[in-house]
Amino acid sequence: MNLEELFLKRQSTREFSDKAVPDEALTEICRLATLAPSAVNQQPYNMYAINGEKARQFTKNVQKEGANAWADSCHAYIVIEARPPRVIIRGERRISNEEYIPEDIGILSAYITLAAESMGLQTCIIGLRDEAGIAEFLNLPKGTGFPLIIAVGYAVNDYPVREKRRRAFEETYKLIK
Ligand SMILES: Cc1cc2nc3c(=O)[nH]c(=O)nc-3n(C[C@H](O)[C@H](O)[C@H](O)COP(=O)(O)O)c2cc1C
Repeated sequence: MNLEELFLKRQSTREFSDKAVPDEALTEICRLATLAPSAVNQQPYNMYAINGEKARQFTKNVQKEGANAWADSCHAYIVIEARPPRVIIRGERRISNEEYIPEDIGILSAYITLAAESMGLQTCIIGLRDEAGIAEFLNLPKGTGFPLIIAVGYAVNDYPVREKRRRAFEETYKLIK
């Protein structure tokens, strides 16, 4: 697959088959994703791969108020935890990565989804979540941020690769020179 083929194939998958996701695949996806850039190279995240029966128990955390009913078919997740901001000293300069943490986590998520797709696994980024429930599930302090969760699995057999619906490119882009 070349890059464009990969970008076209990656889509939000909302119906997964029962085929188990190998633990090693989740580990490899996360390893590859750590190659993503981040502000001041701080990688302000931790990733938790949740697989098998544990994932079945986790699903309720992405189904708050009836959201994401499709996640009933999901058997693996990658949960992204946001780490607290840091101040980095570069000579005389003090640089905080605080304002870039959402960007860094967005980029990480893109890498996760594309790494998964390149390995034949489908994904869906999930923003609707119960952070308090996730903290409890992972036994982490209340108040810990989990900005995004990625559902991972094998799409059901006949799941269509949808045509991308996007704003007109000309509307989103201007070349200035
Ligand atoms: C930050 C973010 C949060 C999202 N949250 C959800 C979600 O909670 N549930 C869901 O089904 N899709 C969610 N999506 C998927 C988007 O709806 C999807 O990416 C968009 O419609 C484009 O479709 P595509 O991913 O198939 O290209 C989210 C995507 C992003 C980037």
